[in-house]
This record gives sequence, structure tokens and C-alpha cells, in this order.
Amino acid sequence: MKLSLPVAFGAISRLQVPSFPLRSPRFLFIEVNKRCNLKCQHCDFWLRTDDDRDRYLSVPGRSAVIAEFAELSPNGNVVICGGEPMLDLEDYFALARSCRENGVRALSVVNGTRIRSPALAERMILEGPHEISISLNSPCEAQHDETRGVKGAFKKAVRALRLLIEARSRLGVNSTRIYVMGLIYGGNYRSIDDFYDLVLNDIGADKLKLNFLQPSFGQAGEEDPFFAAQGAVDPDELTTILKRCNEKYRLDYNPAWLEQVGMYFRSLNAATDRVRGWASTKETEVHICNTYDRNIMVNHYGMARLCFSGKFPGMTLREPGDLRRFWQTSEAIRADMRKCNQFCGISHSVRRESSTMSGRQKMLDHQAKAPVMQSHSDITFKIASGMRALARFNRAPGS
Ligand SMILES: C[S@@+](CC[C@H](N)C(=O)[O-])C[C@H]1O[C@@H](n2cnc3c(N)ncnc32)[C@H](O)[C@@H]1O
Ligand code: SF4
Repeated sequence: MKLSLPVAFGAISRLQVPSFPLRSPRFLFIEVNKRCNLKCQHCDFWLRTDDDRDRYLSVPGRSAVIAEFAELSPNGNVVICGGEPMLDLEDYFALARSCRENGVRALSVVNGTRIRSPALAERMILEGPHEISISLNSPCEAQHDETRGVKGAFKKAVRALRLLIEARSRLGVNSTRIYVMGLIYGGNYRSIDDFYDLVLNDIGADKLKLNFLQPSFGQAGEEDPFFAAQGAVDPDELTTILKRCNEKYRLDYNPAWLEQVGMYFRSLNAATDRVRGWASTKETEVHICNTYDRNIMVNHYGMARLCFSGKFPGMTLREPGDLRRFWQTSEAIRADMRKCNQFCGISHSVRRESSTMSGRQKMLDHQAKAPVMQSHSDITFKIASGMRALARFNRAPGS
């Protein structure tokens, strides 16, 4: 019996009905490099090199991924990441340019060491990401330098912030947002009030975003001493401090996020094998991540995943259409991820709840606008590309 194509396709997709409606992704994370010029105690990227860069997806290739993402998600955001992405300045600006040319918003977190002159700060405002975050580990210079492993790192980060703010006001480009990405851990959580005071009142940045300590990024050894020692935070004291800051600085915190922060540190305190870092067998009490519903991460090799972890399968992007294909054929990966309670769920990049009510509203607005997409099995795509190839074969030469 011959089946018409729509009937055959319908039968396949009914077998693959996703449990949630699939919408276009809100964020594409794209990596510039993997090396770094600081030596943070909570991150091992600085032990890596870019010596195998001849295996990287080319910069034009990564720009093509950005263009495909823009088509898939016209209201989406691209996060340009590293390593320290600004160590490869021309690649960094090339990816930011692709975002601007394709009409998507570019975001980036950098350590600030490369923004050293008014001219570069102006280039960042005119050609760089629309949202620039500089990382700070503390409002206290000595603590920042100690945990970032390089003396002078704090002065450089604060100078970068001041240069950016001055450049923005000189150029009158108010659409660029200038933020601080603050890392919170055992040794500094009692200084969160001073952190807000420094960032909002002294430096005059637009926002202090809080990022809570997770196992070390790119953990190189079997032990994670910084995570073990600095994961010790009193959840009740932390939430009391945060509530006080919420009132004092009118931060518009989301109560659901506050609750999750407390739950996160309760879970960390119960993790007796914290010293194993990512290999800890413990997890958060509650599932708080939704990376699989909103993010695609593409690393320097062009491997696409739904989160930063290598624990779930990914797909190497080889030809136009692969990004969409990966997004639409990953229901099995999503089903596994919905059961994942790893500590990285607290990261602002993957967490379901935004820290502020306005952030939450933005997320809901995006969801309302983003078109529902069809979820397919991989076989559907294989048949579709087979049909396209057949059509090309049957086409009369020259037609
Ligand atoms: C991996 S870095 C890459 C960009 C850049 N090199 C920087 O430091 O800003 C991005 C952000 O992740 C944060 N980060 C690094 N290690 C972390 C950890 N173990 N837990 C939570 N955040 C971490 C950094 O503080 C930084 O704000
Ligand atoms: S957190 Fe950033 S600055 Fe620190 S080592 Fe990692 S990549 Fe480098």
C-alpha cells in the first residue's frame, strides 16, 4: 500500500508527541575560545589552551550558526562566551557583528582585563555586545584578587566598568547595558550589601547580577577544594541578607527565586561529598533548571548541546539546518534532563526562575511570542532530506 507523504509524516510525529509544547530557543551560547588569563580558584579554564584551534568551527561557521539561530528565534539572544572571550578580540567582535547584522541581541560576560583604554571601551559600546557583564568576586579588592588568582585583577575589572560607563555617556548610546556578574560563596555572602553599594552607588553600573558558587567550571582534578570550603553558606542568613538588600536597593526580587537560593544552599550543606565537585553524588532537593526548554550551547568545535554538561548527548553542526534539526529532534534528551537535579541548576543561564519579577515577566513575554515548533523524530528529518535529494535528482538538468 502506498502512503501519501503527509499521512506517513503524521504517523511518525504522533509517536513523538512531546510532553510540553516546544518553542523556539531563547538563548544561543556560542564559545569564542577556552583559555584564560586569570587563575580563578573556582574555575579551571585557565589550565586549558587553544592549541587545537585548527579543529574549531571557523569564525564564519560560527557566524552562520548565529544567522540560523536568528531565523529560528528572531527575538532571541546570543551569549558570547569563553574562556576569556576577549583574548581573541577580532573573533569576539566578529561574532558580536554577526548578532547585530542578524538583529539578535548579544550578551557577554568578561573578566574586564582587556578593556584598558577609552578607545576600546567605545568600540565595545558601538560594535560589541548589547549587554556587557564584568565579573567581580567581591567588593573587597584583596578578596577578588585572591580568588581570581592574579594581583591587580580587581583594579582592572573596576577600571573596565568605569571606562565602559564613561564611553556610553560620551557616545550617548543608552541601549547598551553594563552589568556586574558577582559570584557569591561562603567567604563573601555577608558582604552582599557592600557589593550592591559598590556596584550601584560607587561605580554606577546598571545592575549587580548574583551568581552562586557551583562546582568548579572545567574541573581538572578529582578534588574541588574551593567548592568544598566555599559552598558552606547559611541559607537562612543569606536569604535574610538578600531580603534586606531587596528593600534597601529596590531590587524587585522574585520570591520564588529567593526560595530556590535557600533550597540550593541547604542542598549544598547536606552534600557531604562536596569535595568531589561535579562527581558529587548529591543533588538539589528540587528540580530548578529548564535549560532544555530555552538554550542551545554551541562550543568551539561546533558541537550543539542543550546544557553545558557533557553528561547529555549533543550533535556536531555540519550543514545549514542542523541547529533547527537538533532543537526539534532532542525530545529524548529533554526527557532525561527533566529529571536532572545537578548543582549547576542554580546558574542564571539555566534556571527556570529569574531573580527579579521584571526578568520573570520578560521570560513570560518571550514565551507568549515565541512560535510553537513541531517536535520531530530524527527519522522524519532523514525522510525529508531524502525527499529533497530525490527531488533534486528528478529535476531535469538546467531546470
Ligand atoms: C566562566 S566565566 C567566562 C567569562 C570570563 N572569563 C569571566 O570570568 O567573566 C563566566 C562567569 O562564570 C562565573 N563562574 C566561574 N566559575 C564558577 C563557579 N564555579 N560557580 C559559579 N560561577 C562561576 C565567573 O565568575 C563568570 O562570571
Ligand atoms: S572564571 Fe573567567 S576569569 Fe576566571 S579562570 Fe574562569 S574563565 Fe578565567
